[in-house]
Amino acid sequence: MEPATTLREFHQWSITDRDGFWREQAKLIYWHKPFKQVLDYSHPPFTRWFVGGETNLCYNAIDRHLDTQADKPALIFVSTETGVERTYSFRQLHQEVMRMAAIFQQLGVGRGDRVLLYMPMIPEAVFAMYACARIGAIHSVVFGGFASHSLASRIDDAGPKLIVSADGGMRGGRVIPYKPALDEAIELSSHKPTHCLLIDRGLAPMARTQGRDVDYEPLRQKHFGASVPVTWLESNEVSYTLYTSGTTGKPKGVQRDVGGYAVALAASMKHIYCGNAGETYFSSSDIGWVVGHSYIIYGPLLAGMATILFEGTPICPDAGILWRLVEKYRVTVMFSAPTAIRVLKKQDAGWLKKYDTSSLRALFLAGEPLDEPTARWITEGLGRPVIDNYWQTETGWPILTVAHGVEKTPPRLGSPGMPMYGYDVRLLDLETGEEVGPNQKGVVAIVPPLPPGCLQTVWRDDKRFVSTYFSTLPGKQVYSTFDWGIRDSDGYTFILGRTDDVINVAGHRLGTREIEESITSHPAVADCAVVGVSDPIKGQVAMAFAVLRDTKRGQSAEDRALLEKEIMTLVDKQLGAVARPTRVHIIDGLPKTRSGKVLRRSIQAICEGRDPGDLTTIEDPGVLEQIRKATAISIAA
Ligand code: PRX
Repeated sequence: MEPATTLREFHQWSITDRDGFWREQAKLIYWHKPFKQVLDYSHPPFTRWFVGGETNLCYNAIDRHLDTQADKPALIFVSTETGVERTYSFRQLHQEVMRMAAIFQQLGVGRGDRVLLYMPMIPEAVFAMYACARIGAIHSVVFGGFASHSLASRIDDAGPKLIVSADGGMRGGRVIPYKPALDEAIELSSHKPTHCLLIDRGLAPMARTQGRDVDYEPLRQKHFGASVPVTWLESNEVSYTLYTSGTTGKPKGVQRDVGGYAVALAASMKHIYCGNAGETYFSSSDIGWVVGHSYIIYGPLLAGMATILFEGTPICPDAGILWRLVEKYRVTVMFSAPTAIRVLKKQDAGWLKKYDTSSLRALFLAGEPLDEPTARWITEGLGRPVIDNYWQTETGWPILTVAHGVEKTPPRLGSPGMPMYGYDVRLLDLETGEEVGPNQKGVVAIVPPLPPGCLQTVWRDDKRFVSTYFSTLPGKQVYSTFDWGIRDSDGYTFILGRTDDVINVAGHRLGTREIEESITSHPAVADCAVVGVSDPIKGQVAMAFAVLRDTKRGQSAEDRALLEKEIMTLVDKQLGAVARPTRVHIIDGLPKTRSGKVLRRSIQAICEGRDPGDLTTIEDPGVLEQIRKATAISIAA
């Protein structure tokens, strides 16, 4: 097919001639051994991309650039929390990764072994992820904001030989110790790692378990001159797993390959993010989330760009910090979340103009809905294009956006854009599975095969992969995103929220079921429901409603306040502050249907002051009144 000139043609090419399209994109990376087949789709819905090809993510991101830009910046570490700012060139990053890889090998880690990372935003986390990629170990990064129970379930599922962690991180000037949560998690988990490799930043005291825990710095010295060759991996070997929340209490290990992911990211850097070698990319996400994996760690370096690793918040030391970094490092591509912009919107707009941000080609925002006022405020304030992009942990790169590397389609406020190449996106009726028309609401679905870069399966659970993602819409085997969408007559899609119980707090994806399980583990609680309630800054917050076992408790306002505090502390300790509900209301019962299903949507509607819908099936309508009163009081408070 002829090279496409419009996004529509480009997309069409990717769907009608998958092999030709992705063969072309595959040229963006180095293959040690060429692939024999672009796509093996003999076992739908499982895809195997670039079958027989051998490559390596670390080689493509680091080694490949050594000939041309060894002394150019690769990793720029900025911690406004500790005051440390340090740049690593490609050569230096290469050396540090080889040192880390040598340490891993000494600790018995090899191809296919899992290495779990529970780390703050420090360079060693980057070294560790690339060291895994280099030797064919599978990394599984757990967000540092999660606490012991969340960590323990991920340790059990991933089964890591090694855990890499640190004494602590810092946020808003406060030290957050990591090691106590790690020790507790290992205590709770059935699987035990052979070793824990510990980075001591001198921030928090750290106990060591003899025989298991080893310190990084002495080992780094020991392997200072290490040269660890790249392990060439077949394209479909596993590069990493990353846990994400869904409808059940058990998070799913999203499993990704090597070759497909490398090609997908390299293609997105060219067509969507438009970043060039020698420039700087700045994503303010965290390595514990998919944006961190794709667009802090791998994507920018695959394109030969430097990446900024930022430990800090957008308002510390002041609301100009992000733009100061853009000016200082001449950032050309920036990636953040709508919540960060809404936080900045509450500050003086003058911060947007204080620094020279003319190097910026575009600011990309993702992870949660970008409301129109925020989009308008930042577009006008910055005077640079602001591009919304919609995707998921599962897909690894954007499903809907605009691709300025293909065509300069104007973004439309409130919409992330158009289906990206490789994704056959449809809006389907939840009941019938039929396609809905323009301006009609439907579930955002993708007709398989999924493009390169998307999840291969759920770690160790092929059945769950099929039943969760491909079996919820009637009639066809299509991938459900679990998001509602609507498309206007020009083809721009708008995202209207989740179809399941997943909530999105400040761009952090959380499962309400996990929070409910944590709350019901409090001895006084018999039953509980957690819903996401809209919030002007965080998009959504979690709101909990608990029913007590002992009716004598919770009678007085003091006791209710005490219980609320206890429950919040429990969630903090088990799941992490990120999952803490903003309020825990004690009520007499939950609104349920006669078959026992909790009416979460009705609770959510009441909390947001909307009509709770048809309540004829509800068993005890009186509890709705209680919820209304409880939330009215909390709003007034
Ligand atoms: O509900 C959608 C929302 O975040 C979910 C995916 O979250 P996560 O797996 O953490 O991946 C984030 C990758 C950027 C989606 O199912 N979401 C993500 N981006 C957008 C969005 N909702 C609206 N607009 C977006 N741009």
